[in-house]
Amino acid sequence: MAQDDLFKKLIAHTKEYGYIFPSSEIYDGLSAVYDYGQYGVELKNNIKQFWWDAMVKMHENIVGLDSAIFMHPDIWKASGHVGAFNDPLIDNKDSKKRYRADDLVEEHIAKYQAKIDKDVEKGQTKFGDAFNKEQFLATNPNVLRNQEKINEISGRLTKALTTDNLAELKQIIVDCEIADPVTGSKNWTDVRQFNLMFETQLGSTADGASKIYLRPETAQGIFVNYLNVQKSGRMKIPFGIAQIGKAFRNEIVARQFIFRMREFEQMEMQFFVKPGTELEWFEHWKNLRIKWHKAMGLPEEKYRFHKHDKLAHYANAAFDIEFEFPFGFKELEGIHSRTDFDLKQHQEFSGKKLQFFDPESGESYIPYVVETSVGLDRTFLSILSGAYYEEEIKKENGESDMRVVLRIPPALAPIKLAVLPLIKYDEKDSIGRRYRRQDAIGTPYCITIDHDTLKDNMVTIRDRDTMIQERVLITDLNMILEEKVSMRKLLKKIF
Ligand code: GAP
Repeated sequence: MAQDDLFKKLIAHTKEYGYIFPSSEIYDGLSAVYDYGQYGVELKNNIKQFWWDAMVKMHENIVGLDSAIFMHPDIWKASGHVGAFNDPLIDNKDSKKRYRADDLVEEHIAKYQAKIDKDVEKGQTKFGDAFNKEQFLATNPNVLRNQEKINEISGRLTKALTTDNLAELKQIIVDCEIADPVTGSKNWTDVRQFNLMFETQLGSTADGASKIYLRPETAQGIFVNYLNVQKSGRMKIPFGIAQIGKAFRNEIVARQFIFRMREFEQMEMQFFVKPGTELEWFEHWKNLRIKWHKAMGLPEEKYRFHKHDKLAHYANAAFDIEFEFPFGFKELEGIHSRTDFDLKQHQEFSGKKLQFFDPESGESYIPYVVETSVGLDRTFLSILSGAYYEEEIKKENGESDMRVVLRIPPALAPIKLAVLPLIKYDEKDSIGRRYRRQDAIGTPYCITIDHDTLKDNMVTIRDRDTMIQERVLITDLNMILEEKVSMRKLLKKIF
């Protein structure tokens, strides 16, 4: 199925089966804001629990936090968000559409990459087992030409972004002859910076209201509480603080369903370490976090690391975990080695010492921080898009039928087990329809109670993925299901 079609079907499916609704739908919706329905909220809660268990419960040196969304406005000056939390935007004068300039260039680069991938595919088909991919990539003239283009444009993009050179960013778009993806027009404005934070007022105007922001990330709530947690919990370095919560960004280019929203949820963990040990911890968290994603059992090749060549000024290493969504490989989680930048900034702006006193060495220092930051909604979308299958199945009478099945990891499925009593007037077709409905919701197991159940205390259990049906004793059900749907099973794949 074409990926565009898959994505459209997935969006329709999530609405039809109570996973996600457009916000304020009866008022024609609110752009880039979504509501989670009866099954969506269950899946979301299960993802949160899986993350919380893996990060907080499985680590004796990581604790949780639930900081407020509203924070002192100076926090955002210290963090750099007031001055610099900007996206470089460009408008098309003909279509009046606004885009992130760097996204337009990235998408252009991706086209060259797609050409290379296509050439590799052709080579593979032509030469079969004799095909040597490395050699092909190193010698094929088409590949080399496209790779050179990628290197050249990526190099210019990285330099323009690191030096905040907006004129050069526009020049890249002009030089690459990048057109508006919707209309094909190349009539662009200059590139401008736009701040993404939502503002509101604290207190009534008569009292002298002050401007505050809705947090654009949960991380700062952790930084400003780090000493509170350290002291009250007698934490010793290295230790971590984990938090799940809403974040808000006035995204200009909010597209691709719940991938980029204006109100979304993050699951973030800041790990405080001794300066000089941060890169070791960075490697540790990189490996553990990809294991967490892969433990869910979606196809492994859908995940990959992406190294940041352009590092933020405060970072000394950064990788993304990317997932292959129906619209391509995109960022799912960021793992950043943020040095002591944030704590140092807060120490300076607040005037309060934020040093850690190490009783063993007698030293005081500002810890370095390794951060893992994953979007809850993006994880949700990764699971649904990796779990959606349309399958042809053979019926008993030889005819074939279609089923849509969500192969959600059983431990995360909104409903683990549907109990379907076979009633008097129930014909085979009707039970089939009820199985189809549970498949579409992603329920991993169904049991049917039939006329023999009263005599033999047995029920039929049906597996969503294999569709195999087995008769089992009611007294064994607990044990069978506990093994198949427990969160512990997922955690065991990581630890
Ligand atoms: N504290 C670091 C931080 O916030 P980020 O890369 O800006 O880093 C982390 O965001 C994660 O939050 C992303 O990898 C993504 O999964 C999620 N995220 C960011 N913006 C989002 C948006 N507008 N909608 C949905 N998820 C978003």
